[in-house]
Amino acid sequence: MGRTPSSRTPRIRRRSASPRGAASSSASAAGRAGKAAKIAKSAKSAKNSKSSRKPVVKSALFGRRLPKTSRARGNDTEHAHLRARIAKLESLLDVAKGMTAERDLDALLKLIVNEAVNVVGADRCTLWIVDRDANELWTKVAQGLGVNQIIRIPLGVGIAGKVAVTNKTINIPDAYSDPRFNRDVDRDTGYRTRNIIAVPMHYTTGEVTGVLQALNKKNGAAFTTEDEELLIALGANAAVAIENAILYEEIDRLFEGFVKASVVAIESRDPTTSGHSERVARLTLGIAENLEKSGRGSYAGMSFGVEQMREIRYAALLHDFGKVGVRENVLTKANKLYAHELELIETRFRALTAQMENTHLRSAVEALRQGSALPADIEEARERELARMSDFLGFIRRCNQPTVLESGGFERLREVAGLCYVDHSGAPAPLISTLELERLSIPRGSLDQQERIEIESHVSHTFRFLSQIPWTRALKHVPEIAFAHHEKLDGQGYPRQLPAEQIPVQSRMMAIADIYDALTASDRPYKKAVPHEKAVDILQAETKAGKLDRLLLDVFLEAEVFKRVTLG
Ligand SMILES: [Fe+2]
Repeated sequence: MGRTPSSRTPRIRRRSASPRGAASSSASAAGRAGKAAKIAKSAKSAKNSKSSRKPVVKSALFGRRLPKTSRARGNDTEHAHLRARIAKLESLLDVAKGMTAERDLDALLKLIVNEAVNVVGADRCTLWIVDRDANELWTKVAQGLGVNQIIRIPLGVGIAGKVAVTNKTINIPDAYSDPRFNRDVDRDTGYRTRNIIAVPMHYTTGEVTGVLQALNKKNGAAFTTEDEELLIALGANAAVAIENAILYEEIDRLFEGFVKASVVAIESRDPTTSGHSERVARLTLGIAENLEKSGRGSYAGMSFGVEQMREIRYAALLHDFGKVGVRENVLTKANKLYAHELELIETRFRALTAQMENTHLRSAVEALRQGSALPADIEEARERELARMSDFLGFIRRCNQPTVLESGGFERLREVAGLCYVDHSGAPAPLISTLELERLSIPRGSLDQQERIEIESHVSHTFRFLSQIPWTRALKHVPEIAFAHHEKLDGQGYPRQLPAEQIPVQSRMMAIADIYDALTASDRPYKKAVPHEKAVDILQAETKAGKLDRLLLDVFLEAEVFKRVTLG
């Protein structure tokens, strides 16, 4: 039958009944942590009392009155015992501090288990966590059963399962004579269990969050009431630390999921840029990682911690999020004219060609009607006119490409724009509208001034969007880093034309990564992919022109960071 600490010492029962009892669900872990501190304080006061030679120490852990006859001899024994206990309590308090600082759940679980073994002098220890959704206990840290292997048992099954359900400590001094012990476990593991102690751990709400279980007291004896108290004190702190670590993990998962969903949203606007965000993140992180190793110039000694790397990664993944605020036809515009505009011009050309042919035929018919001879070159003149129209149309199609306008292009465009055709109402109308002429006159690329401004506005949209998110303190620079990814060191970038000293190093790294990937990634409708060598030449030229950071480009090239995307 189960023995709780309360069944052994009334003093301990009074002090611990509330947090342990099922009806005490409101007891806070903070209260238990306070109890641990009180115990330690009590132990220290006991230590101080040594000089006053008082043989009796009133403490839950040390309150053992020795028989009068052996009191003198017993003092030494008791003091030795006290010193050992104090050392354990001090180490327990140290571990409590370490636990509150540890946010990695795996590392935290190992820390707790190692301390549990020390504090009760056990051979091995297991920390079980309650999974309410699955109605199970699970552990990753079961000493002696291999590492990082998750073991699950149903709630209510086994010693730990019972502790989790009843919220009561179980201390079994002789496992093989206790019916609650399942010998199959030893048969499966080849381990010989002599004695077991298992204590519940609680959330701040009082709900059982886990079970700390220790096996085989090392000195050959059974686990004591003091061991129970120590394990409960450790478990109280551990539960709070685990709760915090799980909350941190949940926050991380939440951000991770949100960022991934945002990347899907960005790239579904322009599928030809698929993978760009992830590649820019990989390249930017590559420069950041290698910057510390390069240790040169103004960046000597600069390094980024885990949280800063995560901040860079999120900023890189989300740097183009503002593209969701740019019209899709502008975002994916492949040529200087939109497709429907070119179709319209082609239709007008066909109409004009037919109208010219019609004019030729009419003049021939008129000449024949009047009995005049047809001009000798009538057919030749007709073919010349048709060829001229065909040349004009070919020229318009070439102008429409997102390349640099061919030499003499502007003059010729004006010549074509001077042509008229007869529209559906019978009135003369220009073959090319003013807007179409402006678009075809774009000197380079596919975007006119307004469209370029609209595309460039994606950076401001990104900043506005990212600024709405309540980032954690460690990630608070994400909006600012993304906001500066198109700024240039010569102050000619956009949207703010920041001077070099105001552009964060993270944004400078991202600028190199962004340009490299935009150049080398697969073809986009508005431009062909360029080979690695040409992309490097372009980056070098931009750096020479004072736009990109020379030291960061050197790191990018010397550490072959680009291979992180070219090698898949
Ligand atoms: Fe961008």
